[in-house]
Amino acid sequence: MSHEIEAIKDPGVPAHVHRQADSDPKAEKKAERQVAILFGLSAVGTLLFIYSYIWLPEDVFIYLPVLGTTNAKQLFLGLGLALSLFFIGAGAIHWAKTLMPDEEVIAMRHEMRSEDSDRKDFVASAKEGAAAAGLGRRSLIKRSLGLSLGLVGLSPLLLLRDLGPLPGKDLETTSWKSGTRLVTDPGDRPIKPSDLEVGAVAQVLPALAPGEERTLNNIGKDAVLLIRLRPEEFQLDAEKLAMTHEGIIAFSKICSHMGCAVALYEQQTKHLLCPCHQSTFDVPRGAKVIFGPAARPLPQLAISVDQEGYLVAQRPFSEPVGPSYWERNSQ
Ligand code: FES
Repeated sequence: MSHEIEAIKDPGVPAHVHRQADSDPKAEKKAERQVAILFGLSAVGTLLFIYSYIWLPEDVFIYLPVLGTTNAKQLFLGLGLALSLFFIGAGAIHWAKTLMPDEEVIAMRHEMRSEDSDRKDFVASAKEGAAAAGLGRRSLIKRSLGLSLGLVGLSPLLLLRDLGPLPGKDLETTSWKSGTRLVTDPGDRPIKPSDLEVGAVAQVLPALAPGEERTLNNIGKDAVLLIRLRPEEFQLDAEKLAMTHEGIIAFSKICSHMGCAVALYEQQTKHLLCPCHQSTFDVPRGAKVIFGPAARPLPQLAISVDQEGYLVAQRPFSEPVGPSYWERNSQ
């Protein structure tokens, strides 16, 4: 069986129409510039991605009519990567359609493994194709393609930064202090014990001092879940019981396994569940771990009420919130 690639004499399709760039040097130059512009736009997209990743702060929000209030960093990261990939693809397609060799050929079917002579032919024709594509003489395209491919390759390298550094002592302090009011999230309203019925759950944050602002980092660390039980349902020692108020108990919302938000409360069983790896915490027993990979209970925040009857923290958390990484480090 012949494995050669032959020019089609009668392919049974309309006659092949040659492109303007094949015969007109001006059209060829124009197409070359268009390809370079597309690769250049890809490079701009990658630079936008890099700029957003390194220099844009996490907590800047902008309003867009279609998307509503949006995190600017996330928006520009996505936009930068999308532009960079889109324009590399568009540049390559435009290059192929306007400047690459434009011949209709037929390849005969053959066994999966080519014969040695065909393999040699393939290498030779690939070299010929590269020469015909004019990479050697189209230095503008070569340089702009090199720039866009080089920059797009940086994007995944940049993301490696997300593997570290370790949070260090960051999780050992939160914004909770003695006397800090518990306020609803969202809403920032102070809460009285009477606002919570038995069985109710609420997410709260520390009230802000005048002039203070919440950062995403602090919201992540400070989030607390309030749960109200009947006081007689607790199975706590005297010290932990003194940290509750009228049947209301408060736990850090950050899972002690790997830091997901513990978001599910089963009223019947009084269990808190972490959706990430199914760690299950028993609320009446001070969020003791009864299932899953978490190694310690959720840290409990000591609460009471102030003179006006609003719930406040008695003191800061007495242990770090979040994953127990420091225990592994000290082993
Ligand atoms: S992060 Fe909660 S169980 Fe893994």
